[in-house]
Amino acid sequence: MNLTESTEWQELRSLYEATEDATLHQLFAQDEQRGESFSLQAGDIYADYSKNLVTHDTIKLLIDLARARGVTELRDAMFAGKKINTTEDRAVLHTALRNQGSEHITVDGQDVMPEVRAVLKRMAEFSAAIRNGSWKGHTGLLIKNVVNIGIGGSDLGPVMVVEALKHYSQRDIQVRFVSNIDSTHLAEATHDLDPAETVFIVASKTFTTDETMTNAHSARDWLLASLHDESAVAKHFVAVSTNAEEVQKFGIDTANMFEFWDWVGGRYSLTSAIGLSIMVAIGPDNFQDLLAGFYTMDEHFRTAPLEQNLPVILGLIGVWYGGFYGAASEAILPYDQYLSRFAAYFQQGNMESNGKSVTKEGKPVDYATGPVIWGEPGTNGQHAFYQLLHQGTQFIPCDFIGFARPLNPIGEHHRKLTANLLAQTQALAFGKTADEVRAEGVDEALVPHKTFWGNHPTNTLLLPELTPNTLGQLIALYEHKIFVQGAIWGINSFDQWGVELGKVLAKDLYHVIADNTQPAYDSSTNSLLDVYRKLQK
Ligand code: F6P
Repeated sequence: MNLTESTEWQELRSLYEATEDATLHQLFAQDEQRGESFSLQAGDIYADYSKNLVTHDTIKLLIDLARARGVTELRDAMFAGKKINTTEDRAVLHTALRNQGSEHITVDGQDVMPEVRAVLKRMAEFSAAIRNGSWKGHTGLLIKNVVNIGIGGSDLGPVMVVEALKHYSQRDIQVRFVSNIDSTHLAEATHDLDPAETVFIVASKTFTTDETMTNAHSARDWLLASLHDESAVAKHFVAVSTNAEEVQKFGIDTANMFEFWDWVGGRYSLTSAIGLSIMVAIGPDNFQDLLAGFYTMDEHFRTAPLEQNLPVILGLIGVWYGGFYGAASEAILPYDQYLSRFAAYFQQGNMESNGKSVTKEGKPVDYATGPVIWGEPGTNGQHAFYQLLHQGTQFIPCDFIGFARPLNPIGEHHRKLTANLLAQTQALAFGKTADEVRAEGVDEALVPHKTFWGNHPTNTLLLPELTPNTLGQLIALYEHKIFVQGAIWGINSFDQWGVELGKVLAKDLYHVIADNTQPAYDSSTNSLLDVYRKLQK
């Protein structure tokens, strides 16, 4: 049944119409325990969702909606290795990558766990060899630099986690990333590196992605220009892929290939061999701890009752805002500098997953699906875009993420950081009325400018400390939130056909540019090509 025609949706609509004027002020005044009763503990994550425009009735109806939309059935099908990615006829089994249990997980009748463990073991051997210096370069020098070449899901997860877990990394090995086809990225990443001390990890699920293959070929040229010996490639290039044939064609020995499988979606792949650069940075034990953290949240999502299931609750609240409040974006605001790439990571995670406008059956939707995801770490964001959050015209739910113990305790920094986090959620929720402003003796002409309407919803996630384990929990939480929303919306969260057209057009345009032929496109593209050519001269 179409989502908006379901009884549960219509009941939610009626509830929305009856309560849309309710303020967070009123909701908190009505219930002194609201802060506690609208909170959950999942693993190490304490989640306060009380500063949302919801009542117990809203949550109850949203849970009814989740039941009616088959969220639990789809979840169980995912964990069981069923082919829920219907448009690509694939299982969706990133949870198997971090499974710490002893059960079999089968795809097409075959247990995937032995292979998962075998690849993890090989990754650990390789990472240890780089870290302890037993993997030497072609000329016998120690490897000091590891450069991951990949894009999208083969880049963003490792970029985010290597930065997030820098505190746990081996500092004498530099891990860098090249993704953009813009040669500046490769040039800047390698300009101060010695090829003889550098290993490239070419990470690509398909091993056909133009950006990655172009960068990988240029990286090989850079290496050979210095080492002058084709056989050096074996010591300086390894691959992470599902495509052994293409890896071989590139010239990388498949003995140096770390495999993963078509049931791992690119944007859900950081716990697969795609995480090799992470493992080099933080070591196999910390990587294992990261996997264990993912597993904690996977188990919570798999087993907790819907009412106490954090990814379910957060997902449903997002559906409520998208469906009835017109929320077109969500901000993720981590109050931890190490999480500076967290929101960027979930731009792909969320927007490539749920940026869809037809259902799994191919029918156009008549409701909002995935929001725009964005954000920066606090307190930088406060001095950049929070003005719009507080006084702009858009409705933007925000997630605040904080840690109780700092990894770099210096003076009063962390207490001030936490005070800012809490202050922002207060200000967003409760604002400051015109009367309060007047009571401060503010000139009447300035009163409208200094008034804060409040009523801006937030979730606050508090964790003890940023560790590989808690980071794993946090990432899995957002992954499963995306899953829940996709299930409610009835879309396929695991394909990404929307990125294909641009790739095809770029290929065609590349030939027009490279061969200098007459373009026969629309008048805008034709003129732009014309100007580009003139400017090149
Ligand atoms: O952007 C489209 C996409 O297919 C992503 O889903 C994927 O993460 C990225 O390209 C990279 O693909 P690959 O790992 O095959 O190079």
